Amino acid sequence: TLTQAEKAAVVTIWAKVAPQADAIGAESLERLFFSYPQTKTYFPHFDLSQGSAQLRGHGSKVMNAIGEAVKHVEDIRGALAKLSELHAYILRVDPVNFKLLSHCILCSIAARYPSEFTPEVHAAWDKFLSSVSSVLTEKYR
Ligand code: HEM
Repeated sequence: TLTQAEKAAVVTIWAKVAPQADAIGAESLERLFFSYPQTKTYFPHFDLSQGSAQLRGHGSKVMNAIGEAVKHVEDIRGALAKLSELHAYILRVDPVNFKLLSHCILCSIAARYPSEFTPEVHAAWDKFLSSVSSVLTEKYR
């Protein structure tokens, strides 16, 4: 679980990210599919070319879910319960992919807010995204 200081760092950076969440979400997916092309196999029904409407739409949904997790940082499990069932039972996404996407989200935030992305903020977001990933993959077991 996150310390109070880590939660505060997550909330502070989210306030900056939120107005640009759609663009950051799309960029994170672009980074994911570009660096780890095997992840594209989960999206055979999508047009994954850079800047496509589906890519942007999906990036927006992903960041919206991250926003819900920030808002309910005391109960991420409750906030993402439905998404957890979707990813585990229906989509069956291999848990390794969550580490890859989390890394790409971190990179997108770091690239946009270099001066805010201190080692402390980096560590807090890394831990937060790990918690989100744990919730989304825990139903597999
Ligand atoms: C769908 C969030 C990780 C594959 C979704 C949706 C959200 C979401 C909000 C839309 C659900 C709906 O329409 O009701 C997240 C979050 C993640 C994450 C917050 C981690 C931070 C992943 C990963 C993969 C993945 C790692 C695979 C590489 C998919 C697929 C869909 C989906 C295939 C369905 C797309 C469609 O057909 O519309 N996810 N996701 N997700 N996610 Fe994730």
